Parts: sequence; C-alpha cells; structure tokens
Amino acid sequence: MLLKFLFLAVLAPLLLVQCLDSINDDVLGLIVFKAGLQDPESKLSSWNEDDDSPCNWVGVKCDPNTHRVTEVVLDGFSLSGHIGRGLLRLQFLQVLSLANNNFNGTINPDLPRLGGLQVIDLSENSLSGSIPDGFFQQCGSLRSVSFARNDLTGMIPDSLSFCVALSAVNFSSNGLSGELPSGLWYLRGLQSLDLSYNLLEGEIPEGIANLYALRAINLRRNRFTGQLPVDIGGCQVLELLDFSENSLSGGLPESLQRLSSCATVRLGGNSFTGEVPGWIGELTSLESLDLSVNRLSGRIPVSIGDLNVLKELNLSMNQLTGGLPESMANCVNLLAIDVSRNRLTGNLPSWIFKAGLKSVSLSGNSLDESIEHPSGVSLAVSLQSLQVLDLSSNVFSGEIPSDIGVLSGLQLFNVSRNQLFGSIPPSVGELTMVQALDLSDNRLTGSIPSEIGGAASLKELRLEMNFLTGKIPTQIQKCSSLTSLILSRNNLSGPIPAAIANLTNLKYVDFSFNRFSESLPKELTNLSHLLSFNISHNNLKGDLPLGGFFNTIFPSSVSGNPSLCGSIVNRSCPSVHQKPIVLNPNSSGSSNGTSFNLHHRKIALSISALIAIGAAACITLGVVAVTLLNIHARSSMARSPAAFTFSGGEDFSCSPTNDPNYGKLVMFSGDADFVAGAQALLNKDSELGRGGFGVVYRTVLRDGRSVAIKKLTVSSLIKSQDEFEKEVKKLGEVRHHNLVTLEGYYWTPSLQLLIYEFVSSGSLYKHLHDGPDKNYLSWRQRFNIILGMARALEDGRVEECIDGRLQGTFPADEAIPVVKLGLICASQVPSNRPDMEEVVNILELIQCPAEGQEELE
Ligand SMILES: *[C@@H]1O[C@H](CO)[C@@H](O)[C@H](O)[C@H]1NC(C)=O
Ligand SMILES: *[C@@H]1O[C@H](CO)[C@@H](O)[C@H](O)[C@H]1NC(C)=O
Ligand SMILES: *[C@@H]1O[C@H](CO)[C@@H](O)[C@H](O)[C@H]1NC(C)=O
Ligand SMILES: *[C@@H]1O[C@H](CO)[C@@H](O)[C@H](O)[C@H]1NC(C)=O
Ligand SMILES: *[C@@H]1O[C@H](CO)[C@@H](O)[C@H](O)[C@H]1NC(C)=O
Ligand SMILES: *[C@@H]1O[C@H](CO)[C@@H](O)[C@H](O)[C@H]1NC(C)=O
Ligand SMILES: *[C@@H]1O[C@H](CO)[C@@H](O)[C@H](O)[C@H]1NC(C)=O
Ligand SMILES: *[C@@H]1O[C@H](CO)[C@@H](O)[C@H](O)[C@H]1NC(C)=O
Ligand SMILES: *[C@@H]1O[C@H](CO)[C@@H](O)[C@H](O)[C@H]1NC(C)=O
Ligand SMILES: *[C@@H]1O[C@H](CO)[C@@H](O)[C@H](O)[C@H]1NC(C)=O
Ligand SMILES: *[C@@H]1O[C@H](CO)[C@@H](O)[C@H](O)[C@H]1NC(C)=O
Repeated sequence: MLLKFLFLAVLAPLLLVQCLDSINDDVLGLIVFKAGLQDPESKLSSWNEDDDSPCNWVGVKCDPNTHRVTEVVLDGFSLSGHIGRGLLRLQFLQVLSLANNNFNGTINPDLPRLGGLQVIDLSENSLSGSIPDGFFQQCGSLRSVSFARNDLTGMIPDSLSFCVALSAVNFSSNGLSGELPSGLWYLRGLQSLDLSYNLLEGEIPEGIANLYALRAINLRRNRFTGQLPVDIGGCQVLELLDFSENSLSGGLPESLQRLSSCATVRLGGNSFTGEVPGWIGELTSLESLDLSVNRLSGRIPVSIGDLNVLKELNLSMNQLTGGLPESMANCVNLLAIDVSRNRLTGNLPSWIFKAGLKSVSLSGNSLDESIEHPSGVSLAVSLQSLQVLDLSSNVFSGEIPSDIGVLSGLQLFNVSRNQLFGSIPPSVGELTMVQALDLSDNRLTGSIPSEIGGAASLKELRLEMNFLTGKIPTQIQKCSSLTSLILSRNNLSGPIPAAIANLTNLKYVDFSFNRFSESLPKELTNLSHLLSFNISHNNLKGDLPLGGFFNTIFPSSVSGNPSLCGSIVNRSCPSVHQKPIVLNPNSSGSSNGTSFNLHHRKIALSISALIAIGAAACITLGVVAVTLLNIHARSSMARSPAAFTFSGGEDFSCSPTNDPNYGKLVMFSGDADFVAGAQALLNKDSELGRGGFGVVYRTVLRDGRSVAIKKLTVSSLIKSQDEFEKEVKKLGEVRHHNLVTLEGYYWTPSLQLLIYEFVSSGSLYKHLHDGPDKNYLSWRQRFNIILGMARALEDGRVEECIDGRLQGTFPADEAIPVVKLGLICASQVPSNRPDMEEVVNILELIQCPAEGQEELE
C-alpha cells in the first residue's frame, strides 16, 4: 500500500494523461491533491486510495445519482503547501472551499476550466502573486469568488467582467492596487462586492446603478479619490454601503436618499464637505450611520429624528454646530451616539437620559449647563443601561449627581476637562462595573471618598487637576484591578498608604504636586508592574524604597521633595542602612544570601554583593596605583620647597587656628609648622599629577621630609568633618611596608587634603604593569599585596580588574571573592563598609591553603 501511495504521489501527474479505468477519476484527483500538501492534523486520514469512491471522505460531497464529486470543502483544516493540479481531475466539481488554511504559492489559473465550478473560496490563506489574468476567461458558471485575506498583489484583472454569473466577489484584505476594472459595473448579477483593505486608487466610475441587485458594497480603507458616484441611489436594494477611510470628497449625492433599504451607511474618514443633508431622514431603514472624521458643517438636521430604527450614530470629528435636536427623542432604538469633537453648543437634551442608550460620547464640544439636573430629568430613573458616558472637554458646570451610583452598568465615566465643582459623591462606590473613572481637570473639592473601594472593577482612576484634600483612603486597595492611579495636582496630604502596595497591577502612578508627607512605604517595591511612579513635588521624607522599580526611577519622578534622601536625589540618608552582607567570617552556613563554608574554603556571595566587591577592589588598587604613579613621574623634578610648614608634634595632635581660612591641620607624627595658608601650596609648580580622585602635589616640610599632598575632588561625598576625620584617623594608624603612609590631613568644608609620605622609588603601578625586567607580578604576589594592604589598614567587571597577562595563572576561587569584597569596601555609605578586621578575616578565609605560602619579596 505504501508503495502504491508513493507510486501515485510521484507518478500520478503522468498517469493523468493516460486514463486508468481501474481507478475512479475523482479518487485519483483527490489523492494526487492530498499528496501535494501537508496535513499536520491528519484531517484527511479518511482519504484512502484503496477506496472505490471518495464520496464518504471527509470534506467531500458527491452527486447522489452520478456519484461524482461536486463539493470539496476543507475550511480550517490547517492544510499547507500548494493547491495542486489534482483538483483539475474533478470534472463535476461545483464548490471548492479551502478557506482558512495555510496554502501558499500562486492561484492556479486553470481552476475555472472545471466547467461546472460555481464557488471558489480560497480566503484566509497565504496565497501570493497576482490574480492570473486568464483566471476569469472561462468562468461562465462562477457565482462566488473569494480570495479575501491573502497576500495577493497587482491589479484586479479586467477579465473579471466576463463572469456574468457572478453574484459575490470578495478580494478584501490583500495588497491589490490600481484602479477598479472598467467593466466592473457590467456584472449585473452582483449582489456583494468586497474590495476593502487594499491599495486601490482612482475614482469610483459612474454606472454603478447597473448593479440593480447589489446589496453590499465595501470599499473601506483604500485610496479612492473623487466623489461618491452620483447614481449610487440606483442600487435600490442596497443594504450596506461602506466607503469609509478613503480620500473621497465633495458633498453627499442627493440620489443617496433613494436607498430606503439601506441599513448601514459608513462614509467616515474621508473629506466630505457640506451639511448633513435634510433628506437623511428618508433613509428609514438606517440602523447605523457613520459620517465621522469628515469636514461636515452646519447643524444636525431635525429630520434625523425620523430614523426610528437607528441604533448607532457617529458624527464625531466634524465641524457641526448648534445643538442636539430634540427630535432625536424619536430614535427610540438608539444604542450609541458619538458626536464628540464638533462645535456643538447648548445643553444636554433630555432624550440623552432616556432608558436604552448604552454609549453616549459628547466629548470635545461646548455643551454647557449643569449635568446634575439636565432639563429636569433625574438620573435615578434613567440611564441604568448606560455603559459609556463621556462628557469630557465641554463646559459643563454644577456638581456630579449624588445618585451617580444608580448607573450600575457604567464602564467608562469621563467628565474630565469641565467646570464641575462640589465633592466626589460617595455613591461612585456603587459603580461596580466602572473600569475608567476620569474626573480630572475640574474644580472638585473635598476628599476622595473611602467608598471608592466599592468600584472593584476600576482599572483607571484619574482625579488630577482638582482641589481635592485629605488622605488617600486605604480602602482603595480593594480596587485590585487598578493599573492607572493619577492623583497629581491636587491638595492631597498625609502619607502614601502602604495599602497601595496591594494594588499589584499598578503600572502608572502619579501623585506629583500634592502635599503628601512622611516616608514612602517599603512595601511599594512589591509593585512589579510599575512603569512610572511620580511623587515629585510633595513633602515626602526619608529614603526611597530600595529595589524593584525604584532602582531605576527617573530623578524627575522624585524631585521637589526636600526631605527625601537616597542616591537618586543626591542626598545621603542618615546612616540607618544595614550592611549589605554579613561579614562575620566565623559564622558558617548561609545567612541573608551570604555563605562561608569553612571546610571547603569556598565563598558564595550574593550576585549584587559580588559585583559590589569587584568594583571596589578596582577602585582601591586604582587609587593607590595612580597616586604612586603620579609621584613617581615627577620624582626627578628639582625640589622646590613650598612655603608651607606644619606645626604640631604628638600623634593626632591638632593645631586649630582661629582663622577660619586656615581650617584644621592634623599631623600624625613628626614635627612640622604650619606657616602659610594651605592654598599657597597648591600651585602648578609643585603639582605631581592628577588622578581620578584628585590632584597630587609635592612639597618639603620644614624638617626636610618630602610629602605628597592629595587634594580631594570627590570630598562632597563626605559631608561632615567628623566623618572625614574618623575615616582618615583610621588610615593614620596604619604602618605597613606595602602601603604609603598617611602622615596627616587638612580639613575645611571646601578643601580637604591628605598628606602622604613621599615615595621616590617606584610605584605599585609600575610593579603591576611594567615590572622589573618585564617580569610582572604573579597572582600570588598580587594577592599578598591586597592581603597585606588589608592587614595593614585606605577599608566593572571582574575580568577587567585582573591583569590579562595573568589569565589562567591564578585561582578563580580567590580572585573573584577578592574583587567582590573590594566593591563593598568602596560603598558610598561609610557605614556599609566592613571593619578592617572583618576584611582581614575574610581575606584569610579566601586564601587557598596550598598557595598562601609564597611571599612577596
Ligand atoms: C510555501 O510554504 C512552504 C513551507 O510550508 C515553503 O517551503 C515554500 O517555500 C512556500 N512557497 C512559497 C511560494 O511561499
Ligand atoms: C470577505 O471575506 C472576509 C474574510 O473572509 C470576511 O470577513 C468578510 O465578511 C467578507 N465580506 C463579505 C461581504 O462577505
Ligand atoms: C466614531 O468614529 C470614530 C472615528 O472613526 C471612532 O474612533 C469612534 O470609536 C466611533 N464611535 C463609536 C461609538 O463607535
Ligand atoms: C477622558 O477624556 C479626555 C478628553 O476628552 C481624554 O483625554 C481622556 O483620555 C479620557 N479619559 C479616559 C479614562 O478615557
Ligand atoms: C491646600 O491646602 C492648604 C491647607 O489646607 C491651603 O492653605 C492651600 O490654600 C490649599 N491649596 C490649594 C491650591 O487649594
Ligand atoms: C494587603 O492585603 C492583605 C489581605 O487583604 C492584608 O492582610 C494586608 O494588610 C494588606 N497590606 C497592606 C499594606 O495594607
Ligand atoms: C511582597 O509580596 C510577597 C508575595 O508576593 C509577600 O510575601 C510579601 O509579604 C510582600 N512584601 C511586602 C513588604 O508587602
Ligand atoms: C513627574 O511629574 C512632574 C510634574 O508633573 C513632571 O515634570 C516630570 O516630568 C514627571 N516625571 C516623569 C518621569 O514622568
Ligand atoms: C543627581 O545628580 C545627577 C548627576 O549630577 C543628575 O543628573 C541628577 O539629575 C541629580 N538628581 C536630582 C534629583 O537632582
Ligand atoms: C572569630 O573567631 C575567633 C576565634 O574564635 C575570634 O578570635 C574572633 O574574634 C572572631 N571574630 C569575629 C568577627 O567574631
Ligand atoms: C538576615 O540575617 C539576620 C541575622 O542572621 C536575620 O535575623 C534576618 O532574618 C536575615 N534576613 C533575611 C532576609 O534572611
């Protein structure tokens, strides 16, 4: 059987020429067709070439008398591949429907040669190329053709007009271009023409009235220009007319009024001008009228009230003036009215408030009066079916009706940009279906009612630009679907409640320009969907929550809060921070993501801690290296004693002078006099070099000692003298052969100097990078330098921190933790840094036992 199948699949096209009486033509044709396609869901498994007749196969229908195949309907079978020639064998085929599959390739021009074919539906596939010109040359019996939703390009062939039996043509949603074929209006039997969503252009020719049977014509979203055909009214049985989203212009032709069967007229998104004609009322079957986005002017005609089956009216985005006619009270079936963005004036007519309407959009006009008691109608008895009420951007005044809650079906309530005053009625909490509540840009006073929690479907709450006072009610946490909470530019106060953190869907939050105070709840970091959180211009205090969205918050989102601290606002917080890792090496096991295992001498730090240590090690090394390099570079310069001496004598002695210009000089040892102002030292002549942390100068003390003096440029990070002294004195206590000794310091609020022993021979940088005889330091030597430094004590990326020449020669077990440790040591917040004792312990722990013996020369 397999052999037979292969035989058929490969050789069948050849066999087609020979007539094999033993196999039914239709079986052969369908099996060949099947062989040429992919059937991933095995929908065609019942198609078996051993069968004598295909009449029981899925998707196949036969004539009951002749038993020949008349219909092949394989819609939505997930088939792919080409539409093969096997089908041409089905001489009695009438209906071929392969809609909603994945067929690709081009359209076979020979299909209509099947003389009896009446329906071809190839819609919703991936067919490409153009519609073959020959396709419609032999289409005598073709009644319906659909190529909708493919990727067809090119023009619609002129030969289409030969298919005089055609009643339905659907080429919608392709890339067809060019003008309409000239003979199109000769297809007198045409009932439905759908050419929407293509790239067709040019004018719509006259003669359309020939199509006296036409019920639906859809040319939506093409590039047609010119006017509506003046004889369009000749299509008297027309039910649907959709020419929207083209570039049509001119007025609406008078013949339109004869379309008394027409239920749908869509002409939106063109450039029609003139008035909405008074005869529009003649279109008595009209259920949907869309004239939106045109340039229509004048008043809405009173006759529109004659359209008593009208369900949808869209006149938005025109230039209409005047009021909404009272006659529309007769449009008793109206469900949706959109007259937004016109120039309408006057009041809200009472018929708006009749029961039945679902969607009312009057936004962007100049309608005025109070919405509280529109023309004496009480909301309480009406509007309960209403889902959308958009009255935004008008000049409505008055208060929000206190019984607004009776609109229990309301999903969108938008009264933004009006002149409403009074307070927000507690009954908004009864709007249990409301998804968007926009009361912004009015003159509302009072507080946000705690009842708001009842509006449990709320996704978007906009109350910005009012005069609201009081606190955010914690009950708001019941609105668990909330994604947007915009309360900016009010006079709200109190804390930002931690309850907000329970609104886990929040994306957009704007509390800016209020008077919120106190600190931000830490729980806010739990809001994992936040895209913006703007708390600028309030009185918030304390530090920003750490983590989550708040690590990347824009500075402009937090600015204007004088008491807020944290790196984002460039203000360091009072040191209440916890150390980021536990640095007690005696503790084994894991704690807070840090784990030291004494037995295996491996260290697993949390990722962020690891990165932090790495950067600090670079900085630490860099500062030492740069300093020494700079000194070294100038070591051969002639000595020019500066007019600068030091006084003092004992360790940690101070020589405060009463002159504030002189600041405070502290020398840890030796004898020195302070003669001239410190500034005098800092002249170009004695400059040794510049590093990332400041300029280094060299001078000779009165007792003959050479010292290097570093003027700090990043001192702004250490704001208080106490903090500075505490740090520096620790350094002063250090004496070690691997370190340049700190001799003293000088402090004023604007100038801070570190005074070092002057080292004239060599530098760490040189050792690291040049080395004597091109011998660079081994990892072991380097490790010992760091360990030595740490023992003695100055407190990117890991690979970059480690000299490339060392690749593979050092134990990563040691290197990475060392680099990471360094980063923590360089934390901006001094209290985050580990004690030196802790550092020593950790380094000793990091050191691999076998390697630790080699000593630095
Ligand atoms: C048709 O789709 C098949 C895969 O399903 C692909 O290999 C072939 O190239 C496609 N042919 C065309 C003309 O896009
Ligand atoms: C044309 O085909 C598309 C896609 O199958 C369909 O959505 C549309 O309703 C059809 N048009 C008409 C007028 O039947
Ligand atoms: C009215 O038409 C405009 C523009 O085409 C559209 O955006 C709006 O959604 C329509 N209104 C209604 C209620 O359908
Ligand atoms: C309310 O209407 C205004 C102006 O018409 C619009 O900008 C705003 O997006 C609308 N609000 C909502 C929630 O749709
Ligand atoms: C905000 O409230 C304070 C105190 O209640 C008041 O002094 C101030 O005028 C209010 N500001 C506005 C814009 O309403
Ligand atoms: C969040 O909701 C839970 C459950 O309702 C509640 O226990 C918790 O207190 C709420 N959190 C805040 C910060 O209000
Ligand atoms: C954050 O959310 C988690 C679960 O999503 C919860 O266990 C935790 O308590 C929340 N933290 C705060 C501070 O609300
Ligand atoms: C936060 O709000 C302020 C004031 O409205 C605005 O200037 C700023 O651009 C906003 N920041 C962000 C990130 O949206
Ligand atoms: C903090 O300083 C940085 C760099 O100077 C600056 O870009 C940023 O805007 C400052 N942030 C605030 C809130 O002022
Ligand atoms: C660690 O343990 C040793 C010996 O038990 C002890 O001398 C040392 O002080 C401890 N270090 C810390 C930081 O607790
Ligand atoms: C961090 O460690 C301390 C002390 O061991 C412990 O009290 C605290 O619960 C730990 N925190 C976390 C988040 O594990």
